Amino acid sequence: MLFLSECRSTNDSLAELVKEGNNYAPAEGTVLYTHNQTAGRGQRGNTWQASAGENLTFSVLLRPHFLLPKQQFQLSVMVALALREAVAELLPAETEVKVKWPNDILVNQKKIAGVLIENAVTKDRIGHSIIGIGLNVNQLVFSSEIEATSLSLILKANQELGQVLHLLLKKLDAYYLRLRSNNGYPELLANYYANLFNFNVERIYQDSLGYLFSGTIIGIDEYGKLQLLIEGETKSFDIKEISLVG
Ligand code: BTN
Repeated sequence: MLFLSECRSTNDSLAELVKEGNNYAPAEGTVLYTHNQTAGRGQRGNTWQASAGENLTFSVLLRPHFLLPKQQFQLSVMVALALREAVAELLPAETEVKVKWPNDILVNQKKIAGVLIENAVTKDRIGHSIIGIGLNVNQLVFSSEIEATSLSLILKANQELGQVLHLLLKKLDAYYLRLRSNNGYPELLANYYANLFNFNVERIYQDSLGYLFSGTIIGIDEYGKLQLLIEGETKSFDIKEISLVG
């Protein structure tokens, strides 16, 4: 485990360490953790804001050579399930903890965690993958436009960051081993569907041109795109092509 008291983005700092030409080649499973991430990055080019010392912001290095580039979504499924299970274990049993495609974690429909996965593809394989995770733990006030929540807002008590990090890493380890084991993915995908926000529910979506339409999430295709049933036809979308409206 590598600790930086402050850095711009744990994904960027870990990527720096992994860069070829460095004398030091970090092993699979290396974790880089900071108390104060000053320029956190999110999906779709968004920023990720976390108050210093209140939340978990860290990145994990994987070297999933068993995956082809077109299978990279399998990592998203694995990480989302690990995070979801860790969050669910920390909250009262009846709490609704869902995965929003591709890998946001929602508690009672509010975002508690986000994941930014950055893969380096070499020779038709995924050479390494940097799994960046932000989990809201003790932050009580959020300025972001999206509705956010944190463990302490729900539990009404501060949580020990080290303990939460330990649980997350344990879950990531277990789920990564399941993905790596022979034919582990189909079972994980079934588990992902069982926990997917809006799965099999008709909702209103917006495409990248602003066009509104009604559709139902029916699955994930082999490239990790979201499949919707729209007026009897199945269509696939990637992350920049669709957003939920209501
Ligand atoms: C999202 O929801 O858009 C993804 C957010 C990912 C945030 C984490 S915090 C640690 C790691 N470092 C970053 O710069 N981003 C990820």
